[in-house]
Amino acid sequence: MLAIVILAAGKGTRMKSDLPKVLHPLAGKSLIERVLSCTKGLKPDKQLIVIGHQAKVLKESLKSHTDLEFVLQEPQNGTGHAVQQIIPKLKRFNGELLVLNGDVPLLKEETLSSLLKCHKKSNSSVTFLSTSLESPTGYGRVFTNESGLVKEIIEERDCNNEQRKNKLINAGIYCFNWQQLSEILNSLTNQNSQKEIYLTDTISLLRKASHFEVDDPFEVQGINDRHQLSECEVRIQERLKSFWMRKGVSFIDPSSCSLSEDSRFGIDVVIEPQTHLRGKCNIGNGCHLGPGSTINNSTLSNNVLAIHSFINESTIGEGVSIGPFAHVRPNSKIGDNAKIGNFVEIKQSIIGEGTKINHLSYIGDSSLGNNINIGAGTITANFDGKNKHQTIIGNHSKTGANSVLVAPIKIGSNVTIGAGSTISKDIPDKSLVVERSKAIIKTRKS
Ligand code: UD1
Ligand code: MG
Repeated sequence: MLAIVILAAGKGTRMKSDLPKVLHPLAGKSLIERVLSCTKGLKPDKQLIVIGHQAKVLKESLKSHTDLEFVLQEPQNGTGHAVQQIIPKLKRFNGELLVLNGDVPLLKEETLSSLLKCHKKSNSSVTFLSTSLESPTGYGRVFTNESGLVKEIIEERDCNNEQRKNKLINAGIYCFNWQQLSEILNSLTNQNSQKEIYLTDTISLLRKASHFEVDDPFEVQGINDRHQLSECEVRIQERLKSFWMRKGVSFIDPSSCSLSEDSRFGIDVVIEPQTHLRGKCNIGNGCHLGPGSTINNSTLSNNVLAIHSFINESTIGEGVSIGPFAHVRPNSKIGDNAKIGNFVEIKQSIIGEGTKINHLSYIGDSSLGNNINIGAGTITANFDGKNKHQTIIGNHSKTGANSVLVAPIKIGSNVTIGAGSTISKDIPDKSLVVERSKAIIKTRKS
């Protein structure tokens, strides 16, 4: 049997933040979501999370994880105290307890599987992940005996100068034999510089403690302050970009761009400086993104061009050109070869193939057919102060510069609207409409 507990009750004092530490994002995903995603394949019989500081906020953010049992730690007296809180939940449990620190977000599932295997093989009371660090500052140091078994873990602030030189550190990921741990768990004391109950003190109290050294220290990097958070972000970004470069994506200035892990790219994509992909994006072959574009949860077909623009939760057809300085808002669908030009905002609209909205327009709650030409400054007036209304325009129609279309309204196909018109009633197919007051021209005497 396997139980997993994630420790996430701590305040994260060193982050200096109102947000619980484990909710800070790393490449768009919170630390805690990352920890949770590496336990999925282990199929635990029970999965617990210890919460405390800002428990409500944390619980709310994790409500989609229906298999997670929340355990409250109040007050937060240390990692050992956190694990003591789960005793009532594991009364009849017999098996392995995997303890994960909520602030170690880059762990891989394979490493956890190897830890479990190694633990069972060695018949230890506890096996935990360790690594050797060039600069081990902030971590608990691991001390072993001649046969390689662990004698104790000493937190950095409790180490003397000699002990502090030890580069072998505790990664904060443990596999305990629950039976043996539960026998000694309540005998932990808080005799240390922080006056906290440390989980690491269980090591010297248990019958046999082993450590499993991971090769890549990056995988067990703990996040305690914003510096470590940014270091991790940089490393994740470097990895993501070099992965996609190997798959055929060019970056003009990689360090100024950021990617999400859930984004996918075709080949011959060019990403110009200051361009960011967030959430789940699918980018087709030959797209040219940026400079200065942000794309969030969107799908772009092949050969889309997006310069200095924001595309949010939308679908963009093949060969579409967007920007500079365009804003495509959620639930929009732009047809193949359409053009969304400078200072154009599209909101929750369907734009047909080959339709051009080149300059200074707002198109909201609209459905536009194919090969329409929207004149400069055309606005769909979709809001009557209370409700939003729809604008429909048929194929091959043209709106003159500065037209206002007062929704709800249906403009037929092959319609031409004269410049400067405010149209507030439906217009049939194949018509010309102008709504404009007559110019009054008076010549001055002097
Ligand atoms: C801990 C380990 C240290 C290890 C390091 C690895 C202890 C005493 N030290 O130190 O040996 O090198 O992790 O990253 O365990 N938490 C609670 N309740 C509490 C206190 C903390 O749930 O009362 C949670 C925190 O939310 C966090 C995790 O436990 O997710 C670790 O706590 P943290 O304070 O970051 O411990 P470290 O000082 O990093
Ligand atoms: Mg920590």
